Amino acid sequence: MFNKKSITDIDVHGKHVLVRVDFNVPIKAGVVKDDTRIRAALPTIEYLLAHGAAVILFSHLGRPKDAPEPEFSMAPVAKYLTGLVNVPVHFVDDCIGPKAEAASKALKPGEILVLENTRFYKAESKNDLDMAKKFAALADIYVNDAFGSAHRAHASTEGVARFLPAVAGFLMEKEIKYLGQAIANPNRPFVAILGGAKISDKIGVIDNLLDKADAVLIGGGMANTFLKAKGLSMGDSLVEDEVLGTAKTLLEKGGDKLHLPIDLVIANAFENEAQRKVVPVGPIEDGWRILDIGPETVKNYSDVIQKAGTIVWNGPMGVFEMANFAEGTYGVARAVADSKAVSIIGGGDSVAAINQSGLSDKVTHISTGGGASLEMLEGKVLPGLAALLDR
Ligand code: 3PG
Repeated sequence: MFNKKSITDIDVHGKHVLVRVDFNVPIKAGVVKDDTRIRAALPTIEYLLAHGAAVILFSHLGRPKDAPEPEFSMAPVAKYLTGLVNVPVHFVDDCIGPKAEAASKALKPGEILVLENTRFYKAESKNDLDMAKKFAALADIYVNDAFGSAHRAHASTEGVARFLPAVAGFLMEKEIKYLGQAIANPNRPFVAILGGAKISDKIGVIDNLLDKADAVLIGGGMANTFLKAKGLSMGDSLVEDEVLGTAKTLLEKGGDKLHLPIDLVIANAFENEAQRKVVPVGPIEDGWRILDIGPETVKNYSDVIQKAGTIVWNGPMGVFEMANFAEGTYGVARAVADSKAVSIIGGGDSVAAINQSGLSDKVTHISTGGGASLEMLEGKVLPGLAALLDR
């Protein structure tokens, strides 16, 4: 199934190994606020160190405007990493050029060097091959362990792989195995749960999953657009009028596979303390908006989830950030946690929801990729993966 070479397929002893990680982590006032992605890369880093490599880590962080911006520096990440490993961690405030080359040359086996943010150069996002060559000049081997960035064809994820022997890290391999298996060869019934605000972000995903899955359960703001496409007025709810036609096409294609809410939690303002009502699906009055799926829908969806062999979940069922509108998302989270299925959760919001519900250890796999996992569910090729050596 996983047909790319990985770090166990090559000799890294005494080599300088350039590892693209996805250390795009939330940072506030110079402090790392969530280290999930850093910890997820540790197996690869530790393997390389234990096998005598000098490890050079590089990543993007945030979306700086193609030039150095202190708030997007990798320095806090390098500092944080120092507390997770027992080897020297060096940092250099550039990712290519003489400074980075000197720091790489000075790096000894068993040590780590963290480079500065790759997006401090415009050339990175353009997949500029001169920049890719400059990355390649820093090392003997390239490893891509940045699953979260594998859907980007950038100099650090795709271009550089053309100039060095390029293999996958353990995190990349694990993510592709879980998501790839779920899509290509799921235990059936295969149930997809899709939520979040907008259909427009996920048209390709819904379309592909209607082909592959046995049931697609819809929640969140995107359900409103489907309900409006069925002819219901949606009051003040979030609706994407510009994709109503697409929603109708998906409804036709989906038939019985596409499950919509049968009841809803509505509110008279977009705030936690707003007046709140549970109503069966029907026209919503002006002045009211849908903020969550209702308890009957949770029951319905839980029945489908309980029988599943494979579950993929992307996107919350309602505005779970507000406690009064979180029950739909948490109810679905409980059903996923209780099921015996292989369960895979991707996307920042649904991952946050499962973490907040305290049920994350009951899920088979929580993906470190948002956009990347969606593109996989959409059936797209990930450039950062495609660029690696075949087995
Ligand atoms: C992510 O957080 O999804 C990845 O790090 C990719 O970030 P990007 O959307 O800014 O390319």
